[in-house]
Amino acid sequence: MRIGIAGVGRVGAMHAANLVALGKVRQVVLFDPVPGRAAQLSASLGPDVGHVDTADELLATSDAMVVATPTTTHPELLRRGLSAKLPMLCEKPIAGDLVTMSAIVEEIETAGVDVVVGFQRRFDPAFTELRRRIRAGDVGTVYLVRALGHDAQPPDFEYLPTSGGIFRDLFVHDLDVVPWLVGEPVVEVYASGSVLVHEAFADVGDVDNAVVTLRFANGTHALLAGGRHNALGYDHRVEVLGSKDSLAVGLDPRTPLTSLEPDGPKVGVDAYPGFPERFRNAYLNEMAVFVDVVAGRVENPSPARDSLVSLRLADACERSRLSGAPVRLLVEAVS
Ligand SMILES: NC(=O)c1ccc[n+]([C@@H]2O[C@H](COP(=O)([O-])OP(=O)(O)OC[C@H]3O[C@@H](n4cnc5c(N)ncnc54)[C@H](O)[C@@H]3O)[C@@H](O)[C@H]2O)c1
Repeated sequence: MRIGIAGVGRVGAMHAANLVALGKVRQVVLFDPVPGRAAQLSASLGPDVGHVDTADELLATSDAMVVATPTTTHPELLRRGLSAKLPMLCEKPIAGDLVTMSAIVEEIETAGVDVVVGFQRRFDPAFTELRRRIRAGDVGTVYLVRALGHDAQPPDFEYLPTSGGIFRDLFVHDLDVVPWLVGEPVVEVYASGSVLVHEAFADVGDVDNAVVTLRFANGTHALLAGGRHNALGYDHRVEVLGSKDSLAVGLDPRTPLTSLEPDGPKVGVDAYPGFPERFRNAYLNEMAVFVDVVAGRVENPSPARDSLVSLRLADACERSRLSGAPVRLLVEAVS
């Protein structure tokens, strides 16, 4: 199998290295419009990695494609891949707004081509085990989900005007994975935010710390909190509290949290610096699962239609933050 990668910036380069490390495909082919970028990366990754000079060549020589380009380019590349009947893994989000996303989801489903969306938490072994246990009834009635997502350092401030805001950019991962865990429709959203890290966020009408509550149709609540700076490192955790069990993911010796209890963990130099390290296993597994989807061995665990749920929830969070009131809605359960 030959996998093409469109865009080898931060995320595309990581996917290329992971595909090589997995050793499950015959060749990886890279394309990037920045002169020399794909050639340089292919040379560093060894003989099983090639590069081409145009998107047309990439489409013509690949059995499947990874789209890891800036978000604004996703719809066009997806459409070109659909015309070529190429199964794809597209980085999240597949489109930047609901109208474009709804249209592209329809086109994907009409074409009958597998498009896996790169919400990496869905591929993380601890998250998939948490979901399996919830669905198997091991947790009992889910009373509460707590999700924390704190970046170590804020992004470049030049990125902020195009980021879509904290809910679409940072919270969207948990707005995808928490409904995926709970398996119920969301009926109410409340969000609040503040600027505590840097005025650059206020300058673009955004916030840098926020909290969200989700109410599900069965009465389960989720509390989500996130922010753009965490002094100790990158912190992403989810806890599920149920009538039979309480489970956590992201709680390990590298969690950037210092306990004041005598026997509690003390975080040293080994705290997670960022999302590539924290979700290393998830990104590796994401590529392995994508290859299996292309080969027809497994179902797509992150279909395009589910992206409408997280984007609708992110938009509802922003409306709630701006109005100061809860937003009632009915966002269907994800698959
Ligand atoms: N899943 C995650 O955890 C995660 C994390 C970060 C970013 N992302 C997403 O990944 C995507 C890429 O983000 P990034 O941080 O790697 O960006 P980046 O700017 O580092 O890399 C994008 C690359 O795409 C190239 N490119 C631009 N237009 C192209 C085109 N038409 N065809 C081929 N290549 C093209 C650029 O030259 C660049 O090398 C974004 O959609 C972002 O939202 C996902």
